Amino acid sequence: MFKSNKRIRKPLTSESSKPRVVTTKTVMTMKKTGDKIAMLTGYDYLIAKYLDQVGIDIVLVGDSLGNVVQGHETTLPVTVEDMIYHAKAVKRAVKHALIAVDMPFMSFQTSVDDAVRNCGRVMKDVGVGAVKLEGGEYIADIVRHLVRIGIPVMGHLGLTPQAINKFGTYEVRAQDANEASELLRDAKVLDEAGVFSIVLEKIPSSLAKKVTESVSVPTIGIGAGVHCDGQVLVVYDMLGLTEEFKPRFVHRYAELAETMRGAFREYINDVKSRKFPSENESY
Ligand code: KIV
Repeated sequence: MFKSNKRIRKPLTSESSKPRVVTTKTVMTMKKTGDKIAMLTGYDYLIAKYLDQVGIDIVLVGDSLGNVVQGHETTLPVTVEDMIYHAKAVKRAVKHALIAVDMPFMSFQTSVDDAVRNCGRVMKDVGVGAVKLEGGEYIADIVRHLVRIGIPVMGHLGLTPQAINKFGTYEVRAQDANEASELLRDAKVLDEAGVFSIVLEKIPSSLAKKVTESVSVPTIGIGAGVHCDGQVLVVYDMLGLTEEFKPRFVHRYAELAETMRGAFREYINDVKSRKFPSENESY
């Protein structure tokens, strides 16, 4: 029987009609088509693998790893080396999602040259699809240059944890008219500078709506209400691993801290009582 050597072409879309490979262009198109963007943070190989397997659109290697993985009080101590280390693990796992990497404090704010060198390293050494930079109008020239040389940038406005020492609190931002209009202007400037999306963190829902309607690129909210084009959460928060951190915007989809403690307790008891290992678990 004749057998064709021709390979059957894989459909461009998966069963769930999600694009097989998500690019920054896909993300921008999703605003136009009205498809909500689902982003979660990922810092290691296994979690990134599971996120990718179930069709997450974007894995953000967030500098929140400084808090949840490294145990720092703020994200300020995180280095470019730390981000590259984690991004490489994520990159090994992800086949479909867009990977965006947070650029840490003082890795891009200092000059266009520093931004090019550090963002360039992340793009070139790891091979991810985009970087994320916190900040508004004051980083517009940096964003413009990065985009011009082929480095896609995700913006981040509202509560920007790298500016914690300026604001002094992690409370909801832009509640007064001045800060709200400044944020709206920042969003328009970033849009004009060429970002492909903007994270809006912990701002009033009404302001997030206004921003979302005023910019051409998708907004991705965290504590910014229902009107954003997409949503992001820190994966350890939504899994219930960061137990003490309970802001109202975090929807807990699991209670893994308790599950883990239960497993650890059982293991300790089994070892102490000589129940583990059994004959079956021995060679
Ligand atoms: O670092 C991070 O995880 C973030 C998200 C909260 C957006 O910036």
